[in-house]
Amino acid sequence: MKKKKRKLFAELIQKYIGQGSEPVCPYFGECGGCMFQNVPYENQLLLKKEYLNSVLEGIAEADVIHPANPYMYRNRMDMVTAFGKKGLRRQGGYRHVVDIESCAIMQSRSNELFGKLRVLLEKIQDYDYLRHEGYLRYIVLRQARFTGEVMANFVVSSPENRLGFALIDILDDIDSSSLLLSDGLADLSIAPVFQTLKKGFITESFDGIEYMITPNSFFQSNSEIALQMYRKILAHVKGNTLDLYSGVGSISLFVASAADRVTGVEISEESVSTAVQNLENNEIKNVEFICRDAAEFVIEHKGEYQTLILDPPRSGMHPKMMSHIHEMNPERIIYMSCNPSTFRDDARLLENYKIDSFEAYDMFPQTPHIETLALLSRKQ
Ligand SMILES: C[S@@+](CC[C@H](N)C(=O)[O-])C[C@H]1O[C@@H](n2cnc3c(N)ncnc32)[C@H](O)[C@@H]1O
Repeated sequence: MKKKKRKLFAELIQKYIGQGSEPVCPYFGECGGCMFQNVPYENQLLLKKEYLNSVLEGIAEADVIHPANPYMYRNRMDMVTAFGKKGLRRQGGYRHVVDIESCAIMQSRSNELFGKLRVLLEKIQDYDYLRHEGYLRYIVLRQARFTGEVMANFVVSSPENRLGFALIDILDDIDSSSLLLSDGLADLSIAPVFQTLKKGFITESFDGIEYMITPNSFFQSNSEIALQMYRKILAHVKGNTLDLYSGVGSISLFVASAADRVTGVEISEESVSTAVQNLENNEIKNVEFICRDAAEFVIEHKGEYQTLILDPPRSGMHPKMMSHIHEMNPERIIYMSCNPSTFRDDARLLENYKIDSFEAYDMFPQTPHIETLALLSRKQ
């Protein structure tokens, strides 16, 4: 997190800490995973509201932050395995890992699994990411909230399975497991699968729509909040709908029943092939997925869509995207964002549109992140 932002949050913590609350986690303060466990949850929501409204600079206003379960909500945790430790990086310190036995924001089945894996993998050589020596870089745990299925993936530095024997007793407890090869200098936990130890995917279910989650595909980190947001999006979809940055197709498939047709556009091949699989599994007929850069697609499809859904990555969209959207001329834009600054800048550029509603959701309790949903309509 940038220094200025960290300073602002430190001030807001002082303002909203009140009587304080006892952190549930013994690693709080040292571990970089959480920032607000010492602030009572109701006050965290007020803190985030103040932060959000200061970032938005009047472009929109959040009245409340929709609450979530404050703990045990995360669908995915990437546990670093380095320096004889298994856990998360130290707050503000990339060079250090905090050895953690369980994580208060990770879902419970993943926590149980992580506890067992810590012991079973004790003798497996970890990876020193400062000297670039060793084997096991990350244990990635993913859990689907509504089906309870869990996936354990192991990111390693060479294309060999040195875990087989250690995992023999635990594969029955896991729904999916893969080995991923990350053999470069970059510290990546997303990497090509070179061996599937079990199944290769888990399934999440939102109001009857089933989603396959593969080792590297994006899926929202908090299913309960994502489902609330998707229901809201569904209520505003009409006509031909373009879902840009569609990931594994989760929004496209969820809103298909309200649209004439839906096109999902996504740059990751793995996500698109999972989206196509999801489409077939759900037997939905009015949705197509296209593997393409979103900006390139929009330039070529002016005037074809009445509804545009945007859910860009945290880094934001192509700088020219807003002018391409103007040319595309959709009647309404549904903008889901995990980055209030880029949302603010984009909304300013959408001069032909007015914001009809704006809501914020606490997708990531205990952390500084906030998810927002804005509904915009074309000015007459
Ligand atoms: C925040 S995720 C949204 C996923 C999806 N809407 C969902 O709810 O699961 C952003 C997605 O944008 C994709 N992406 C990033 N850059 C892109 C680009 N230039 N064009 C198309 N998709 C892109 C990423 O691969 C990622 O799947």
